[in-house]
Amino acid sequence: MTKALTILGIESSCDDTAAAVVRLDDTATVLASVVKGQNDLHADFGGVVPEIAARAHAERVDICVEEALAEAGMTLSDINGIAVTSGPGLIGGVLSGVMCAKGIATATGLPIVSVNHLAGHALTPRLTDAVTFPYLMLLVSGGHCQFLIAEGPETFRRIGGTIDDAPGEAFDKTARLLGLPQPGGPHVERAAQTGDAKAFALPRPLLDRAGCDMSFSGLKTALLRARDAVVTEKGGLTEKDRSDLSAAFQLAVSDILTEKTRRALTEYFELQPEKRVFAIAGGVAANGPIRAALMALCAELETDFVAPPLNLCTDNAAMIAYAGGVRLLAGQSDDMAFKARPRWPLDDRAPALLGSGKKGAKA
Ligand code: KG4
Ligand code: ZN
Repeated sequence: MTKALTILGIESSCDDTAAAVVRLDDTATVLASVVKGQNDLHADFGGVVPEIAARAHAERVDICVEEALAEAGMTLSDINGIAVTSGPGLIGGVLSGVMCAKGIATATGLPIVSVNHLAGHALTPRLTDAVTFPYLMLLVSGGHCQFLIAEGPETFRRIGGTIDDAPGEAFDKTARLLGLPQPGGPHVERAAQTGDAKAFALPRPLLDRAGCDMSFSGLKTALLRARDAVVTEKGGLTEKDRSDLSAAFQLAVSDILTEKTRRALTEYFELQPEKRVFAIAGGVAANGPIRAALMALCAELETDFVAPPLNLCTDNAAMIAYAGGVRLLAGQSDDMAFKARPRWPLDDRAPALLGSGKKGAKA
């Protein structure tokens, strides 16, 4: 049996401050996971304000650590190592977590590991479902949208991603345009339930282009135009218009993600013919119709579909503790001099994606 390690994880790269305690040996167990969101702080601004986020992280990160330790029934003396997100993300927020982690490591002498936030998401199917390498992963949230083939704990091949906005951002913008509350995804999904997706013809950008890259910003603009046309004609939006526009938008996102996933799976099968596992993570993975469309695609292509529980799909520190813990178990740790990185591509062999969304730089 592998020796057991208990890891404290810290995450502060976007608009969730989080700490978690994860126990790792041959298996992984989440002993505590605390997440403090900031939706209320950013609600008036139509997006995450980096300075407000950084201040909130600085104020709350040590509280999250205390709460996570208490939830696990532990003190720092029970911890064997610290894992912290050091990028990619909003630099002020990342710095809050990194400084807290370095402070604890200095005071206790515990080893510290710097973790790539995207690696945290990409390794979550191993934490929750013990999925073995290699698998295809779709990260789809307010800040990320990319296809990764996870080949090893530190080896990821990015085979596509958004060249502009992330789908979650597009859901949030759609909600704002339709007068629905933030974060927009769940509200657009609810409105879409009674809508007719065919009432409006919205584009499917980049579907005509080969490969797995995606684009969502033109879809947002198309929705704005469709809304404005209704407002000009009728002087406002009815509930039915809101539902129809929501349904048309959601179907367009679903069609783009499904078709690009089909292509990503084909590329993955060619590169890794021995495995057929597809996993999703990120807030947009909570969307019922999108999830159903991806599940149906996997059933058609005889591929296992893995979706971690939502609290581990969205930003959290358990995934960071796990990703860092794997390195600690392998006898690795980082020098205290590691830096916070706003950009940190998981696969530096892949060409840079063009976009940089409101929730921070894409990697
Ligand atoms: O992963 P997450 O919690 O945070 C990051 O963005 O990193 O994802 C939040 C995003 C938001 O943009 C939100 O609108 C979207 O995920 N989202 C959804 C749904 N639930 C959350 N989008 C579509 N349908 C949903 N049910
Ligand atoms: Zn994330």
